[in-house]
Amino acid sequence: MSELLVLAIESSCDETGIAVIEDGRQIVSNVVASQVALHAPSGGIVPEVAARAHLRWIVPVLDEAWGDAGVDWPDVSAIAVTYGPGLAGSLLVGINFAKALAWVHDVPLIGVNHLEGHVYAAWLRDPGEADREDPVFPLVALVVSGGHTFLTEMRDHLTYRLLGSTLDDAAGEAFDKVGRLLGLGYPGGPAIERAAEAAIARDRVFPRAWLGDSFDLSFSGLKTAARRIVTEARAEAGLAGEAEAPLPDPLVAELAWGFQDAVVDVLATKTIRAARTGGARSIVLGGGVAANSALRARLAGEAEALGIPLIVPRPALCTDNGAMIGAAGARRLAAGERAGLDLDARPSLPLAVR
Ligand code: KG4
Ligand code: ZN
Repeated sequence: MSELLVLAIESSCDETGIAVIEDGRQIVSNVVASQVALHAPSGGIVPEVAARAHLRWIVPVLDEAWGDAGVDWPDVSAIAVTYGPGLAGSLLVGINFAKALAWVHDVPLIGVNHLEGHVYAAWLRDPGEADREDPVFPLVALVVSGGHTFLTEMRDHLTYRLLGSTLDDAAGEAFDKVGRLLGLGYPGGPAIERAAEAAIARDRVFPRAWLGDSFDLSFSGLKTAARRIVTEARAEAGLAGEAEAPLPDPLVAELAWGFQDAVVDVLATKTIRAARTGGARSIVLGGGVAANSALRARLAGEAEALGIPLIVPRPALCTDNGAMIGAAGARRLAAGERAGLDLDARPSLPLAVR
């Protein structure tokens, strides 16, 4: 087998993911157990419920990933595990599982920052996928997830300079909240994307927070505006006094489109400006919101016009998974890093500093 085979474990939020990655990029197996259905009735993640679900699923997910990979313990070079940022209880399930495996099989343990994983998903290759260019440095990466939204510059592997980040809500959080407002359920991101595709009228303009020349972002004003616009739309539709009555589908589609367009516009504009001013040679997009086809299409078009390659993983590798943790973990292993068996959860672990 390969010289560098990493078993990677992700449990920071609401997906239990385990993968086997070869040479830092090749996916050998990648299994994700999603808790979306479990959290949908409450309209959001309940941390206690999430931690218990990780406990329930982590062994079956390992069994499946291990079976798919067809490897044996002597082949494994290291175990990589997310140690932050994320929900403390959820992180601890993955960390303790990884520690037990590392100790029993006498394999090195690597702690991985979940956000670094979202960036390194850009290096992943699917089984059978034709070889292609890796991202080239210097690069600008936009990470847009449910908990984080930031732009960072990388001049080399594992080094980050923060260009800007959200001052309030993460982009995914805004999608989830506005999804709820539109009666679209949880998670809001994919539901808003689907609803927006059906929009015929595309003239409702939602506000953009440009924040001058800054690469920082803000979505709380947009969320407040969305609440006002939805209330006005309900009045227009004659539903003012009927809190429980759903909005007509064409109106939901129109509002979903307007909101999504505002988020995509700001994210794409700032990312392209960061790439242009910093002389980036590639642009990387990652995190759950990077699964959004409007954002992908807009950035792809603008990056092409600029002559800079955009690297964005397929949607299932944008949302949380173990493979991305394996890609980042392999880099950290190659850089000589090792975690001790005292590795602890860091719920607020940052990635980059300014
Ligand atoms: O990266 P991720 O899987 O988990 C975190 O690390 O937070 O991101 C989850 C977020 C959720 O807020 C979800 O609504 C959003 O990503 N998301 C999307 C789409 N798919 C997932 N947002 C917009 N469009 C999508 N297609
Ligand atoms: Zn994530």
